Amino acid sequence: MRLSHLAYGGDYNPEQWPEAVWEEDVRLMQEAGVNLVSLGIFAWAKLEPRPGEYDFAWLDRVMELLHAGGIAVDLATATASPPPWLSHQYPESLPVTADGVQLWPGGRQHYCPSSTAYRAAAQRLVRKLAERYRDHPALVLWHIGNEYACHVSECFCDESARAFRNWLKKRYGSLDALNAAWGTAFWSQQYSDWEEILPPRKAPTYPNPGQQLDWRRFSSDALLECFDLERSILREITPAIPATTNFLTNFKPLNCWTWAAHEDIVSLDSYPDPADPLAHIDAALNYDLARSLKGGQSWLLMEQAPSQVNWRAQNLVKRPGQMRLWSHQAVARGAEGVLFFQWRASRAGVEKFHSGMVPHAGAGSRTWREVVALGRELRKIDAVLSTQVQADVAILIDWESWWALELDSKPSQAVRLLDQVRSYYEPLYRRNITVDFVAPDADLSSYRLALVPNLYLVRDQTARTLEHFVTSGGIVVMSFFSGIVNEFEHIRLGGYPAPFCNLLGLRITEFAPYALDQQNVIITDAGQHFPCTLWSDVIDLEGAEALAQYGDDWYANRPALTRHRVGRGEAYYLGTRPNEAGMDWLLNRACQAASVEPAAIVPTGVEAVLRQTADTRLLYLLNHGATAATIALGAPCTDLLTDRRHIDSLTLESQAVAVLSS
Ligand code: GLA
Repeated sequence: MRLSHLAYGGDYNPEQWPEAVWEEDVRLMQEAGVNLVSLGIFAWAKLEPRPGEYDFAWLDRVMELLHAGGIAVDLATATASPPPWLSHQYPESLPVTADGVQLWPGGRQHYCPSSTAYRAAAQRLVRKLAERYRDHPALVLWHIGNEYACHVSECFCDESARAFRNWLKKRYGSLDALNAAWGTAFWSQQYSDWEEILPPRKAPTYPNPGQQLDWRRFSSDALLECFDLERSILREITPAIPATTNFLTNFKPLNCWTWAAHEDIVSLDSYPDPADPLAHIDAALNYDLARSLKGGQSWLLMEQAPSQVNWRAQNLVKRPGQMRLWSHQAVARGAEGVLFFQWRASRAGVEKFHSGMVPHAGAGSRTWREVVALGRELRKIDAVLSTQVQADVAILIDWESWWALELDSKPSQAVRLLDQVRSYYEPLYRRNITVDFVAPDADLSSYRLALVPNLYLVRDQTARTLEHFVTSGGIVVMSFFSGIVNEFEHIRLGGYPAPFCNLLGLRITEFAPYALDQQNVIITDAGQHFPCTLWSDVIDLEGAEALAQYGDDWYANRPALTRHRVGRGEAYYLGTRPNEAGMDWLLNRACQAASVEPAAIVPTGVEAVLRQTADTRLLYLLNHGATAATIALGAPCTDLLTDRRHIDSLTLESQAVAVLSS
């Protein structure tokens, strides 16, 4: 993007307001330091009030006003919410659930991702928009769709069924290959004609897992095709303008590794709940993931709430200072801009109680004052734009494995990928050890420690990548129920986890999932006891050593945590889920083995992240704690936010932020 500062702004929906308000909008935007707005995300009906009849005159005026005010535009393709005429004219464009229920218009995102009518209409609109604004000086970014899959991630209609069959034909080539992949010899499911194949619609009992897993892949790809159809028009007409689409946090339906490769810039919408005292930890995880999706490239916080949202049961406001703190957290973790949903709080529609940068009360409000203060303050830290966040630790996450792990009929439905990822992430977060996320076949050579929570589905290549990492000196920590199936969700035979037995120096012949209230304990080689829950692998050592053993039950004294030295590295395996103290103990041990250091040693509750280049080093400190914290400094530093010099130490009030340059 051609912006000379950190991006600051929000979703701008001028179509909800009389034109008289627009000039005030621009004046207020200037007051707040806004330099980027996401324009017209839900304006399709206004831009094309009747099929093929376009009205761009109002958007021309908005674009001109913004440009004259020095505000750049992230122009939406406006295709996230089709106008009523589309489904009226093409009822088959409406989505259908697995139970056969058609979803009606009246909300938003009411389209079947495979609908040819929707796709054709969306492409027509995008071409018109791109042709009209191709040379507009305000245009710096395209905002394709909006939160793909947020409400409708899959559609089970007949048109989707046809698209699924075509997708499967490309994937398998023959029915024999598909029958083998789906294991259709089970329960008399063998297909003899492509036309017999359907989406996994509501069935009497568990549908075929191969079919379900391919359905997830197909559904992510079907939406990606919608994105790509728009992207290719934009690339043809405006090759120099980058494009993004905004992802959601903790979002399972889209394979974000695949999607991010199709975007120029990753952007993320993040709504941490002010009612949750640990919300900032989950936010940090998602920001690290957003940064990792394009290998460390900076990303945009495309949406966050200035204060409360409208869609939780109780919508708490952000306390004074909290919006500032949480905004800086995104920048600390690699964001090149902070934007909000939305600029001006709506006065009608379901989101009228969602906060806006300009609240209903207008400029005489706390939210507005905080918005203005943040906008001004961000101008002081443009230095972050040339820096990067670096991590020595990688957490491996694979959407296909996530989907497969959480299909039905598993040993335990309580094993959920994000819980497991968080059990690794949180102790590291508390120690201020920065983490990247990596795709299964990523190059791991820049990391010292790779964490593999529950990689249930694994391809041979991933197993080789991890083996190579360890033999070259890396440290791996892997949890139970990894390496269990191949990409078709077929068991890898010969003892679990078959592709990793050599690397880990062990073999598992049985695993014992727990009842929800069941507990055991692990006893470490130094005699510490940590309660554990969820699961126990019954491990036979084949070269590895036990670092902890189970304390109870029929597998008491059997290994619970192991280490295998391989080549120049070490592979740890964890057969259960210890409590947080146990995970902290394990990760601390792994970090020591890998010589991984925290960004800074700071009091509990303070988050520390380094953004750096070869010659700049910016230490971000964020106090999420309820009390002031004093941080000892190794060398004198200047806080870019206050311009104050700190010699030996710095005291940060609760919710305060510092960006230290040494
Ligand atoms: C999402 C959407 C926005 C808006 C906000 C409300 O992020 O993209 O259009 O609905 O939620 O929080």
